[in-house]
Parts: sequence; structure tokens; C-alpha cells
Amino acid sequence: MTTPVQDLSFFDDIKAYVGFTDADAAALAGFEPLVAPHYERIADHFYECILAHPKAHAAIRGGEAQVNRLKRTLVDWMRTGLLGPHDERYYHRRTRIGRVHVQIDLPQQYMLTAMDVFRIDLRQVVEETYAGEAEGRRRLNDAVDRLLDMELAIMLQTYKEDSEDRLRRKERLATIGQLAAGIGHDLRNPLGVIESSLYLLRRRDHDEKVSRHLEKISAQVKICGEIITDLMEMARNRPPKRSRVDVGALIADVVASVPVPPDVTVLQVVDECVEIDADPGLLRQALANLVSNAALALESSGGRIRVSGEALEREVVLTVADDGPGFDPATLSQAFEPLVTGREQGVGLGLALVQSIARRHGGSAEAENRMDGPGAVIRIRLPRTEADEAGAEEEV
Ligand code: HEM
Repeated sequence: MTTPVQDLSFFDDIKAYVGFTDADAAALAGFEPLVAPHYERIADHFYECILAHPKAHAAIRGGEAQVNRLKRTLVDWMRTGLLGPHDERYYHRRTRIGRVHVQIDLPQQYMLTAMDVFRIDLRQVVEETYAGEAEGRRRLNDAVDRLLDMELAIMLQTYKEDSEDRLRRKERLATIGQLAAGIGHDLRNPLGVIESSLYLLRRRDHDEKVSRHLEKISAQVKICGEIITDLMEMARNRPPKRSRVDVGALIADVVASVPVPPDVTVLQVVDECVEIDADPGLLRQALANLVSNAALALESSGGRIRVSGEALEREVVLTVADDGPGFDPATLSQAFEPLVTGREQGVGLGLALVQSIARRHGGSAEAENRMDGPGAVIRIRLPRTEADEAGAEEEV
């Protein structure tokens, strides 16, 4: 029984459209040993064309080291493309390419034109090496065309998806910026009045119930203050003011200052003498957001939060893990999107700000659910020094 057209996956649909068959896959696999001796030459030619064109060249920011690395990636791309199998796993590996091209701001037209560089070079190899009859040669050329069309379709599709995501994110951030500028500032004043009245009220004697409610108001006012701070920080998007930060001391300071429910324990695990060139205020804010999120996740169940700092060769990894319910799979992929939240009462700024702070330091933030049980893990990866940041860019 054939699958109805509307139920085909994106990849199967493309395969069906270009008419890629098992016979094409077999022809390409048979062709691969003939192309293998030419891989390096084709990869060299591919990057010669890019480097000769100033606007395409601009996407390569890491110099010769990056080009050499990309050539190896490209040889692997050619080999795995010709050999297959052209299954869902193959498709998922290919989806990365368009996404990476969005990250490096590669204009779309260069992917289209670059594919023709391969097409021409592969056709030439067919001409030079194929010893069979004309009909077999034509079939092989057709199979190459179909493969390259599928590659292009996947690349352009994921490129489009990620570009749209990026645009949506930009628009959201712009909206947040306007919101922050408009109301964040205005809210500070009434909150300040509430805080000072609370201060006066708490100095008087009250019965236990009133005192408890005053504490609750105070805690909520503090949360409002934090949301405003996040909003303003998000809107300002200021570059980090770096100094030498002792990661152990920073974590201890954050853990001491963020309130957690009584049945939540916080474990601190830091490699000895980990230091980083970073903005202490921004890092503190990012970590405090993460610990506070973890504490909220454990509010009703209690549990453990683990805050760790680990030094790798060129980066420092800060991790906050909890054993709460973890991310809902539907929101995990959007964990860092501003205004997206898994909590009923959340605004969805905390993690967006964490990512923005990591990126401003030349680093990144990752979110996942724990493998060894329920719980969420957020990791911030930061270059240890500004020089490491430049090195990391070179490698990208
Ligand atoms: C149609 C042709 C192209 C193919 C098949 C291709 C293939 C690839 C592959 C396989 C990757 C690695 C993705 C990963 O990390 O998994 C990549 C990344 C990259 N590509 Fe392309 N690419 C193409 C066009 C271009 C063009 C035209 C440029 C530049 C003008 C370019 C620049 C880059 C850069 C800078 C990276 C990124 C980062 C790194 O160093 O890993 N690509 N590409």
C-alpha cells in the first residue's frame, strides 16, 4: 500500500517530487569510488569560488583555518551524499546545514549558486571516468542532479524556517524593548512606594496572620522588581563590562541571595580556582534567574538544585540542574524565546535574558531535560577570556 501524499514526511515528499529512486541511490553509490580521488580538488574549487567573490567571502570569518576545516566537512558531505542511505537520519543530519548558514548570515543566493559549482564538477567527473554506454551515463547524471536538488531543497527549507524564527525573535525583542522603555520605568515608582510602606508596616507589631501576609506581599513585590530589572536589562542589551570573576565566589553569592523553599537544597559544585573574564553583574543576574527558576520548579514538590562551574580548555560551563518536572517537550525547543514560558505565572523573560547575556559574552545557552530522571538542566557556555572568544569565532 502506498502512503497518501499528504502523510509523506518533508524528505519523502521531496524524493517523490524529484523522482529519486533506489536505482539512483545504487548508481550514486557505484559512482562514489570514481569521485573519491577528486574530492579534494572539488572542495578546493568550491572554496576558490567563494573566496574569489567578496560578498560570499564575507561569510567566512575564520580565515584559512576555517576554510581548511570546511573543506574536510565538505568532503564528508560529498561522500555521505553519494553513499547514502538516503533515509530520515540522513535527512536530519542535512537539516543542520541550512541552520548553520543562517547563523553565519549567509545570503540565500550563494547556496543556490554554490550548488551549481558541485553540479558542474561532478558532471565533469562523470565525463572523465564513466566508462559505460551513453544511456548509463545519462542515468548517472540524472541521479547526481536529483541528489543535489534534494540537498538544496533541505538546505533552503531549514534556512527558511530558521530565518523566520530569527525574524520573529527580533520582532519580539523589539516589542519587549518598547514595552520595557514604556512601562518598566513607570512601574518602579509605585513599587518603590509599596516597598517603603511595607517597610514601615513591618516595623510595627502585628498578629501572626498579618505578619505572614506582609511577608507574602514583600516576596511578590520583590518578584515584580526582578521582572522589571529583567525587562530593562533586555531592552538595554548593553555590552559586558569585563573583569576577572571568581566563579566559585559568584555561585556562592548567588546561592546565598536567591530565596529557595525550605524543602529545597542547593548543592554547589565548582572546580578549583575557576576564573573567567566576564561582567560580574550580568553573570550574577543570569545565574540568579536560573536558580530562581529552579526553585520555582520545585516549589510544590521540594527537591535538589545543583549549581556547578566547570573549566574546560577555553570555556567555562555554568550549569543549573534541578529534579523538578523538567521542560514540557512542546516548550523545550523554544525555551529561550522571549515571552514563551511553561509556567502559569511566568512572563517568559528569565531564560531569554540568560541567553542574551551568554551571547553578549560570545557564549551560548542550552536547555535540556535530565537523562537520569526528571528535571531540567540549563547550561551556559562562556569563553574564558576575550582571546578565547576570538579563537572560538575563528573556528566557527
Ligand atoms: C550549496 C552548497 C553548500 C553546502 C553543501 C555546504 C555545506 C556545509 C556543511 C556540511 C556545513 C557544516 C554544517 C554543520 O556544522 O553540521 C557548512 C557550514 C558552513 N558553511 Fe556551507 N555549504 C554550502 C554553501 C556555502 C557557502 C556558499 C558558504 C559561504 C559563502 C558557506 C559557508 C559555510 C560556513 C562559514 C559554515 C560554518 C561554520 C563552520 O565553520 O562549521 N557554505 N556548510
